[in-house]
Amino acid sequence: MAASTESYYLGFDFSTQQLKVVAVDGNLNVVHQANVQFDSELPEFRTQGGVHIHADRLTVTSPVLMWVKALDLGLGKMKNAGFDFSRVRALSGSGQQHGSVYWKKGTNQVLRDLDPGKSLHELLQNRFTVPDSPVWMDSSTTEQCLHLESAMGGPQRVADITGSRAYERFTGSQIAKVNEYSPMQYQEAERISLVSSFAASLLLGQYAAIDYCDGSGMNLMDIFSKQWDESCLLATAPELKEKLGTTVPSSTVLGPVSAYHVNRYGFPEDCKVVAFTGDNPGSLAGMRLQEGDIAVSLGTSDTVFLWIKEPRPTVEGHIFCNPVDGTSYMALLCYKNGSLTRERIRNECAGGSWEVFSSVLKSTPIGNNGNMGIYFDSVEITPPAVGVHRYNNENKKVAGFPAQEEIRALVEGQFLAKSSRNSSAGHGRCLF
Ligand code: XUL
Repeated sequence: MAASTESYYLGFDFSTQQLKVVAVDGNLNVVHQANVQFDSELPEFRTQGGVHIHADRLTVTSPVLMWVKALDLGLGKMKNAGFDFSRVRALSGSGQQHGSVYWKKGTNQVLRDLDPGKSLHELLQNRFTVPDSPVWMDSSTTEQCLHLESAMGGPQRVADITGSRAYERFTGSQIAKVNEYSPMQYQEAERISLVSSFAASLLLGQYAAIDYCDGSGMNLMDIFSKQWDESCLLATAPELKEKLGTTVPSSTVLGPVSAYHVNRYGFPEDCKVVAFTGDNPGSLAGMRLQEGDIAVSLGTSDTVFLWIKEPRPTVEGHIFCNPVDGTSYMALLCYKNGSLTRERIRNECAGGSWEVFSSVLKSTPIGNNGNMGIYFDSVEITPPAVGVHRYNNENKKVAGFPAQEEIRALVEGQFLAKSSRNSSAGHGRCLF
């Protein structure tokens, strides 16, 4: 086929620290990429690692307009680089899980009538009732979690329905907190989106539905019926069902890209917007996992996830709907101390260089001569503990290790934690 008629497909990832846009052709070859680093390219929002950590150290938010501006910037970069948007047949994407976006009444109409002469950032300036969106790193909602679990009959009961016991970062407890502390902002929200469905809305030009997989990270959806659970909604906040909209399978075509993007960037009018999902379900789909496979994702958060057929929710870890197969599920464990902790040790022990970090790691023996470490810079999720703890080969607690041992203790500690928590995962094929 002549190159001029080749079709492209766009994938967006709204992650914690950056926005990535990747264009592939029909054979999945990458034909173009753009990314926007929030801290360095949008310094006016003053984030660190894409977030604001508040004074209590528990509340963690990101400015919603930063994500909007990142989309303007990312698409603008592609246009300036000569990317031919007219070849894009379909687009979809992912977002960091659990974060929530609160759209002001009337914004659905605003999204339909966007003026292509202006940036999204200008047009959506005052369209969010909560300007700082709670994100997955937040752990300030213990009270709301306890309330949900006691209203529902205990943590296992919440897990039996929603796939997870109540977790601080899950969207339900975050929404409950907004309703409790900022009731006006809650009431004024016409729609509450996840980061994934918020991003899809910006491209669709109307509120986009939440997909089953990302909806599983809210403590609000019954993962078996794939519908909102009335008793969880009731225990969370009033009139919540209307604000959440309906849930859809991850492969749903939501509609054509909005006229705004057709006019501003030259997308074809019939370019399809497919539902966005969470970053972890997106990774499961993108890595083409099969039943029994286990994958480890090293990011701002580290995650371990696997494709499962018969979910048995427990009070540790999570079960989400599967983005690829409607009859299957995915199990997931999340570790908050991932890349940021590795970067800290790299900076302290390897002069900020990954090359040095890797060569030191290769030069030290497996087992680290019996020196072990646990590095929880911020409150971990699994298990909920904090602090840096080092033990030497006599099992004595020590205050520090030489740089070489520190690097290996960190990497071994992080992987031991993943392996010990996953022994119940069976004999999966590991995709590291
Ligand atoms: C998963 C989780 C994180 C976020 C950010 O439960 O909280 O992995 O999706 O990447």
